Amino acid sequence: LNLMYAHIGRQQSWQSSSKAIFRISPFSLSWKEAFQISDNWPGYSLDLFTYPQHYYGDLEYVLIPHGIIVDRTERLAKDIMQDIGDNDIVVLCVLKGGYKFCADLVEHIKNLSRNSERFISMKVDFVRLKSYHNDQSMQDMQIIGGDDLSKLTGKNVLIVEDIVGTGRTMKVLLNNIEKYKPKMIKVASLLVKRTSRPDGYRPDYYGFEIPDLFVVGYALDYNEHFRDLNHICVINDHGKAKYRV
Ligand code: HPA
Ligand code: MG
Repeated sequence: LNLMYAHIGRQQSWQSSSKAIFRISPFSLSWKEAFQISDNWPGYSLDLFTYPQHYYGDLEYVLIPHGIIVDRTERLAKDIMQDIGDNDIVVLCVLKGGYKFCADLVEHIKNLSRNSERFISMKVDFVRLKSYHNDQSMQDMQIIGGDDLSKLTGKNVLIVEDIVGTGRTMKVLLNNIEKYKPKMIKVASLLVKRTSRPDGYRPDYYGFEIPDLFVVGYALDYNEHFRDLNHICVINDHGKAKYRV
């Protein structure tokens, strides 16, 4: 299906896309290890999908369609249930970008739990961080909210993030949470960016490894815009200029 879409959308990319999505990296053990989207993956033509009219002309292409995000999230929910489904967990959603992924992940975990012998008790909490200005990571990360982290003491915590870039944000957050001595901390991130540093932070669970691109949609924003876009897309120069602050 992926190949078909790519073929329909961009004739010229048939050759390069044939190995694109499930490409095996020399650094990974097998294709099962990670859903890697390679650097030469051309994406899907925007004409194949619907998206809000106010973003016409602002996007380059669709990197991950909404349906694939949801399907992959269902599998992550299964993996998480298998690993920690015997524990009561506190899901800590990192706002604002993590809200869509978190909502879908929690929904899938609830469904899996309902249809199995294992009943997982979940509490959902929120923390807010801010580290991006335009598309550049800021030097100082602000932690807004999350003043009630003492509730996490002795708990099994699942941090849910939209994207791990440099990993700096996650390290700051982990350091903060560890002070409150939770019983366990796991991190689930929908996306991991392939940055230049091979020693970059890896979450316990992640949906897709993506090229070092600035992406928007499915709650990921560019200066608070594009959160209402369903698909994960690459923004173009026009879009960047239009919403620059
Ligand atoms: N898009 C939106 N927010 C982000 C990104 C991105 O690519 N990387 C880190 N935060
Ligand atoms: Mg984020």
